[in-house]
Parts: sequence; C-alpha cells; structure tokens
Amino acid sequence: MQAIDPIIADAERAFGACATLAELEQAKSRFLGKAGALTELLKGLGRLSAEERPKAGAAINEAKGRVEALLQARREAILAAELDQRLASESVDVTLPGRRQSDGGLHPISLAQERIERLFASMGFSVADGPEIENDFYNFTALRMFPDHPSRSMQDTFYVADSDKVLRTHTSPVQIRHMQSHTPPIRIICPGRVYRVDHDATHSPMFHQIEGLWVDEGISLADLKGTIAQFCSAFFERDDVEIRFRPSYFPFVEPGVEIDMVWERKDGEVKYLEVGGAGVVHPDVLRNGHIDPERYSGFAFGMGLDRLAMLKYGVNDLRLFFENDLKFLRQFR
Ligand code: FA5
Repeated sequence: MQAIDPIIADAERAFGACATLAELEQAKSRFLGKAGALTELLKGLGRLSAEERPKAGAAINEAKGRVEALLQARREAILAAELDQRLASESVDVTLPGRRQSDGGLHPISLAQERIERLFASMGFSVADGPEIENDFYNFTALRMFPDHPSRSMQDTFYVADSDKVLRTHTSPVQIRHMQSHTPPIRIICPGRVYRVDHDATHSPMFHQIEGLWVDEGISLADLKGTIAQFCSAFFERDDVEIRFRPSYFPFVEPGVEIDMVWERKDGEVKYLEVGGAGVVHPDVLRNGHIDPERYSGFAFGMGLDRLAMLKYGVNDLRLFFENDLKFLRQFR
C-alpha cells in the first residue's frame, strides 16, 4: 500500500495553494474524489490479507478525516479573506444625502368614498357589496328594465359574449341582491365601480356610484329629501348647499327624481351638475326582492361618486381622476 503520510502532506500543500473556493473544490477531488488518492487506497483494501485489512482501513479513514479537516480549515480561511477584501472595497459614504422615500396617499375618489361611507354610517347606513360582473337579470330585468325597454340603451355597457353577463351599469342591482337576502328594516349604501359606453369631460367608461336603499314601514320621498340634504351639507361642510330635485324617470322607482347641484354661477347664469338619480322604490322591485309592498316602502338613490368628488375638490374634468398624473394626485395628499 502507498504511504499515507505523504498524501496528507501533499493535500496540505495543494489546499494551501488555493486562493478561491472553486480552486479548492478542484484540489479536493484529487484526494477525496472518485479517482482521488485516498479513494484509490480504499479500493486497494481488497487486495490485502485478512489480517492487514482492518489496520489499513482504519489508517485510511483516519487520513480521510485529517484531509477533510485541512479542507475545512482552508475553506474558512478563504471565506474570511474574501469578506475582508469586500469590507475593504465597499465603503459607505456617510456624507451623501439620503434617498428620499416618497410617501403615498389615497386617491381622491377613495378619499371621497371613505368620507361618504363615514357620513352615511353616522346616519345608520351600513355598507353592502355586489359583483361588478353582473347577470342581465339583476342589472336590468329585476329593475323593470326589460329586454326591449328603451332605458337599456341609455346604459349601454360591455357585454360578455355568449353569456347573460354584463359589466354592471349601475350599483342598483345590489338593491335586489340585498333585499333578497335581508328583511326590513334595510338601510344600506353600496359604493362601487360601474361601466358604460360613455366618454367626455363629465362621463367616463368606468366610474363610481354610491347606491342607497332604505326600506321600512312608512318610508316616503320626504325621507329621501331629508337624507340627501343632510348628507350634502355634511359632505360639503356647508349649510347653504344648493340642490334641486328634478322629476325624472327610472323604471325602478315611482316617483323618480334627478338630484342636481349648483356647479358654477357665471354672469347671472346657474350651471347645475347632475349628481344622482333617486326615487321611491317601485312595488314590483320590492316584490323582486321578496319584500311585501303592502307593508313596506322605501327610497333608493344612485349618486355619481366621481361627480361628488369633482364638486368637493373643484375638479372640472372627470378624466383627470383616471390619468394617474402624479402632479394632479399629489395635491390630495
Ligand atoms: C342610475 O344609474 C340609476 N341607477 C340611479 C338611481 C338609483 C335612480 C336608485 C333611482 C333609484 P343615472 O344613469 O342617472 O342613474 O346615473 C346616476 C349618476 O351616475 C348620474 O347622476 C351621474 O352622477 C353618474 N354618472 C352617470 N354616467 C356617468 C359616467 N359615464 N361617468 C361618470 N358619472 C356618471
């Protein structure tokens, strides 16, 4: 058998000459690899006599342990040297100015929505939710907008091909869904995104509405007027908010009104902005919500959240809300 001590001395020399971990791996294979010197010795054990074999085996194993210890010591020395080198080369210039972390803020529509939810909560309304991809039934038919009804064309939307699904055109379908799963008294608002084929300074293809529904015994148009007036003066923080209720038609209410707010006064002329539709819930709509119209009545409204935000923050073009121009958005931080 080849002498063991020279192999160990050879390994120590070879490891000591390595400057990187990659070189060390190479050197390791010369001694401990498949064809390494110590592995070859192990393979040769079979040729020894039965008396010689245990002694030789133990000696080879002890040598293997020593070579592995040498290898580990060299590995640690290389890592320590690499760390020293990195620390020496990577210095931090503590005199440089820091990198500013810009703080974000809520989008004006979210700010307006939070404020509206808070105000209605103080009037006893809770927040309800519904799907944005709605069934034709909930979005139209259950609200008495039957398939051939002209009111459907005023709310043209995005249809999902070969299905009865539509991107909801208003938050009113939540009225039906909520009535079907709750019993009066019901007092909810539902803020959310809605979609229509619309696009100009006061119309966006995606916009936000706040639906409101109050169903109980003896609810009338007077309750609607009082609620809206109270909300508007709290939202705009003014006692002299000018709103007008203009008779209008929505198939799901009777009577129906449009709510307008003074937007601009110029040269004696008053310009109004329509902020929502509203009215007393039609008996058939209550029935579709499994509520007895002989006992209960209610009012509903659907306000344009983006329009309320325009009036609140003095924004004259709705599209600014959706362009994500930071110069515009930063003003609301
Ligand atoms: C409706 O959507 C009814 N669902 C409202 C309603 C609810 C009536 C409950 C009665 C009872 P209308 O289409 O008018 O109605 O829309 C309501 C409000 O949404 C409008 O007054 C306006 O403020 C806003 N709005 C409508 N279209 C757009 C649009 N494309 N972009 C931004 N805001 C819009």
